[in-house]
Amino acid sequence: PAVREALKARIRRLLRERNAVMVSHYYVHPDLQDLAEETGGLVSDSLEMARFGRDHAAQTLVVSGVRFMGETAKILSPEKRVLMPDPEATCSLDLGCPADAFSAFCDQHPDRTVVVYANTSAAVKARADWLVTSSCALDVVRALHAQGRKILWAPDRHLGDYIRRETGADMLSWDGACIVHDEFKALELELLVEAHPGAKVLVHPESPASVIALADAVGSTSGILAAAQRMDAREFIVATDTGLLHKLRALNPGKTFIEAPTAGNGATCKSCAHCPWMAMNGLADLARALETGEGEVHVDPALGLRARVPIDRMLAFTA
Ligand code: 13P
Ligand code: SF4
Repeated sequence: PAVREALKARIRRLLRERNAVMVSHYYVHPDLQDLAEETGGLVSDSLEMARFGRDHAAQTLVVSGVRFMGETAKILSPEKRVLMPDPEATCSLDLGCPADAFSAFCDQHPDRTVVVYANTSAAVKARADWLVTSSCALDVVRALHAQGRKILWAPDRHLGDYIRRETGADMLSWDGACIVHDEFKALELELLVEAHPGAKVLVHPESPASVIALADAVGSTSGILAAAQRMDAREFIVATDTGLLHKLRALNPGKTFIEAPTAGNGATCKSCAHCPWMAMNGLADLARALETGEGEVHVDPALGLRARVPIDRMLAFTA
C-alpha cells in the first residue's frame, strides 16, 4: 500500500503541474476511478466522459478507459493533448469492425441510416450518420424509427437486437460482440436467482437476449447505477463488467451486489467478467504518461472532422 499511495501522490502532483484533468470509465480499477474524482475529474459512462472532456478548460485530458474513449476525446478537442495510461487498450467491438469492411457493408445499403455504437474506431465513426452509446441508443433509434428511417447498425449484435425488440425499428446489424458481456449465462443466472430470492437482476444490453430476458432492469452503466439506487431491494445480481461494483457499492452501502455468472454447465465463476483492456489501465503507466507524454492519442485531423459529425449529433440530442 505504501508504494501505491506514493504513486497516487505522484499522479495527483503531476495532474496539478501539467494542468491536466482525468476522466475514468466505471470499468477501470477503483484506484483510477477514485483518483479522477478526487482531483476534479470524472468517473462516468462513455457518453458523459466525452461531454466532460469536451467542456473542461484543461488543455491536457487523461482518459482512463479504452482507445475509442481517448479517440472520441481527441476528436471533440483536437487542440487538447489527450493521454491514456495505455492507448493499446482496445475493445472487441472495435477490433471486430474494421473500417474497410464496414464501409463496404454501408455501400451495399445506401437507403439505410447508419447508426454506430461509440465502441468503434474513428474511421468507422467517420462513416456514420449517428453515434450512440448504450445510454442513448434506444432514444436515438426510436426517434429515427418515428421518422420512418431504416437503420444499419454496428457493431454489437446483442445491443442491436435489444434495440430492435424495444423499438420495432427495421435494423440490419453487424455481427460483433463484447467479449465480457457475451459470456453471461442465462441458466446459471436463473440458478443464482433461485438461490437469492428477492434479488433484482440488472443487465447491460451488450448481454445475450436470454440473459436480458431475466432482467428486472436493463441499462447502460449509468442506467444500472440509477436502477440500483431507485429499486427497493437488498440484493442485486449484476450482469456487467465487475468494475462497476466499486461505484455500485459506494453509492448503496446498505445493499449487496453479486456478480452474474459467466461460467457454463451450472458452475459459477468469480471475477470472470472483467474487460482485459480496461484492466490495462494502471497507476504506473498513468504516472509515466503524465511525466513523459507517452501514451498520447492522435487522430488524423481530416478523419477527426468527419467522425465528429455523428458525435456532435449525439451530444446535441442528449444535451
Ligand atoms: P457505457 O454504458 O459506459 O456506455 O459502457 C459501454 C462499454 O461497454 C464500455 O466499454
Ligand atoms: Fe469493449 Fe466489452 Fe471491454 Fe467495453 S467491456 S471495452 S465493450 S470489450
